[in-house]
Amino acid sequence: MDTPLFEMQSKIKALAKARNAIILAHNYQPPEIQDLADLCGDSLELSRKAAQTDADVIVFCGVHFMAETASILSPDKVVLLPNPKAGCLMADMITAEALQLKIDSLPPMPVVTYVNSTADVKALSTVCCTSANVVKVVNSLAADEMLLTPDRNLAQYAAARTGKKIHYWDGYCPTHEWLTVEDVQQARAEHPKAVFIAHPECRPEIVSLADVVASTSGMLRHAAQAKEREFIIGTETGLLYPLRRANPDKQFYPAAAKMTCKNMKKIKLADVLRSLETMSGEVKVSEEIRVPALRAVEKMIAIV
Ligand code: 13P
Ligand code: SF4
Repeated sequence: MDTPLFEMQSKIKALAKARNAIILAHNYQPPEIQDLADLCGDSLELSRKAAQTDADVIVFCGVHFMAETASILSPDKVVLLPNPKAGCLMADMITAEALQLKIDSLPPMPVVTYVNSTADVKALSTVCCTSANVVKVVNSLAADEMLLTPDRNLAQYAAARTGKKIHYWDGYCPTHEWLTVEDVQQARAEHPKAVFIAHPECRPEIVSLADVVASTSGMLRHAAQAKEREFIIGTETGLLYPLRRANPDKQFYPAAAKMTCKNMKKIKLADVLRSLETMSGEVKVSEEIRVPALRAVEKMIAIV
C-alpha cells in the first residue's frame, strides 16, 4: 500500500530539519509539493530566497534551470533537484555556442537573458531578468537597443512596454505558446464577467487581449487584491491550486486546460524523500561558468 500523503510529508519535513534543508517550490508544482514547501514563489522570489537562506541544503522543486540558478547564487550549499529529468523546453532552445554566434553577428549591445536558460547562456549575458522584472531590467540599461534571449514573446512584451529596440532569439515556452486567440475568446464567452490575466510568455496577440499581464506571483497578488470575483488564467494550470487555496470566495478558470507543463509535474513526494535521504540529484555549476553567470544574476537582483 502507498504511504499516505501526510505521512510522507511529515517524514520529509523531519529529514529536511535534520539536514538543515529548505524546500523551495515553484508556483506550478503539484499541490502536494506546494503544501510541503517552506516557500512557494515565482522565479524572482525563489532566486532571492536561494540567495538569502542560511540552510545548508536547498531542495528545489521546479525545473533544472531554477536549481542551477540557486547553485550559481549559493555555491557553498548543496542544491538538490529531486528529479533530474525535470528540464525546461524553452531553456533547451538556445545553447551558449549559438548565442555567441548571434552576439558576433550584431553590433555591440547588452544581452538580457531570461532566467529560463542554462548557466552557460547566462554566463554570456549582461544581465538576467524574470517575467516579473523584465520591464525594469530593460529600462535600467542605458542602451536603447539590446538582444533578449531566449523567449521571443517576453522580448516582444518588453519592447512594447519600454519602446526600446529589442532583438530576440526565436525561443518560446510551448505551454504558453499553445494558448490561441480562439481559446481566449471561448473562455471570455463562457465567463463574461471574468478578468483575463496573461503571462508574458504568451504570444503578443494574447498579451494584447489581456486585462492584466503578470508573473505567476504577480497573478496571485492581483487576484487577492482585486474587487472582481472571476478570473481567466492564462498560464500553466498548476497556478490554479494556489489561486483557489488563497481565494476560496473567487472563481478561477484556466484559459485553456491544455496549458500544462509536463516538466513541472515530474517531481513526486517520493523523489523529494529519496533525494534528501541519499543526497542525490545535486546540481552544481562549474566555477568557470558560475562566476560570469553570477554577475548577470546579481545585476538583476540589484535592480529590483
Ligand atoms: P514565473 O513564475 O517567474 O512567472 O515563471 C514562469 C515560468 O514559466 C517558470 O518556468
Ligand atoms: Fe519551461 Fe514553459 Fe515549463 Fe516554465 S512552463 S518550465 S518556461 S516549458
